[in-house]
Amino acid sequence: MSQTNETVPPIGIDLAKALSSKRIKHTRVTEVMSELHTLIYPSSQDSILLVCGPTGAGKTTLSRHMVESALERGRSHMKANGGVIPAVYVEAPSSGENDFSWKLFYRRILTQLGDDLDAPKKLYGVDEHTGRVVRPRGSTGNSLAALRTAVERGLRERQVQFLVIDEAAHIIRQTRGKHRLEIQLDTLKSLANQCGTQMVLVGAYDLYQLVSLSAQLARRTHVLHFERYREDRPEDVKAFERCVLAFEKTLPNLWGGQLTQHSKGLLGNTLRCVGTLSSVLIRAGKLAEAVGSWSVDSLERALLTEAQRKRILEEIIDGESAIGPSFTRIMPRIQRSAV
Ligand SMILES: Nc1ncnc2c1ncn2[C@@H]1O[C@H](COP(=O)(O)OP(=O)(O)OP(=O)(O)O)[C@@H](O)[C@H]1O
Ligand SMILES: [Mg+2]
Repeated sequence: MSQTNETVPPIGIDLAKALSSKRIKHTRVTEVMSELHTLIYPSSQDSILLVCGPTGAGKTTLSRHMVESALERGRSHMKANGGVIPAVYVEAPSSGENDFSWKLFYRRILTQLGDDLDAPKKLYGVDEHTGRVVRPRGSTGNSLAALRTAVERGLRERQVQFLVIDEAAHIIRQTRGKHRLEIQLDTLKSLANQCGTQMVLVGAYDLYQLVSLSAQLARRTHVLHFERYREDRPEDVKAFERCVLAFEKTLPNLWGGQLTQHSKGLLGNTLRCVGTLSSVLIRAGKLAEAVGSWSVDSLERALLTEAQRKRILEEIIDGESAIGPSFTRIMPRIQRSAV
């Protein structure tokens, strides 16, 4: 990157908000969304869809967008049939406990379904002789089984076509032992089968281990790779450069038309991940704002450090080799310099 400074007019708006609220419909998003649209349909055999990709690829942004557009498309159906919710987004909890908290997870789903969480899931009864309210015997009102039943009923009654579970790798990370994990995923699978709701599990590459758990699960799971842009494909490099241009156009006064000339450096530093690009640019914008003018120095200070980049790259390369051996074979030499 050149070291010349460029002074720009004052920005005068909430820069971070402007940049983070901008959603670029870039090539990779369109590809993954279109594959998901094709595979989500009533009575599909793919009860579980896995969307795996590197950190900062834009997985959460895509997940939320998927759900928002399903709600948009289903608007008239929702109006005509009060209570229908075509799609739901939840984040798998990371409770800090040793075991994945299914209770917390079910509660999050119920919140999205508009369920009254305070109401006991197993209703209190009324004694026909005394007229008094009696507690249900055995399990407490909000036992795991009761919550699961409430989720099942909610998904079915609200005709949820798909449930996006973001950060689904938390389920794996917090479950010790292959057998237990298999049981838990069977829970998701049977939830999908009983409610007719497809589960879209989104997460980093470690989520991919799911397919090796059981043949039955593997058969019912389709994997989508939300991969970063590739250096060996000119169309990918162009698509990434278009993202830089789109960010530049979001705040033309800030960058003063100077951003796209750094596309190649940004491509290398952000490991070709659009979410990481966004984070770097927001940081650069804030640094520029703090000193009152934009300079290449702000951009350089906002870049990932070599240590960060190395760590992320290691994880990406491991994930890419696990998910697609052919991809690894033809992977280009990684540019190691910071910019
Ligand atoms: N298509 C996009 N257009 C504009 N900004 C985007 C886009 N995709 C992601 N971003 C921005 O990049 C940042 C990171 O994206 P996101 O959280 O979706 O990535 P992720 O793959 O889910 O990362 P993580 O590994 O942290 O889960 C967010 O601030 C988001 O607003
Ligand atoms: Mg995410």
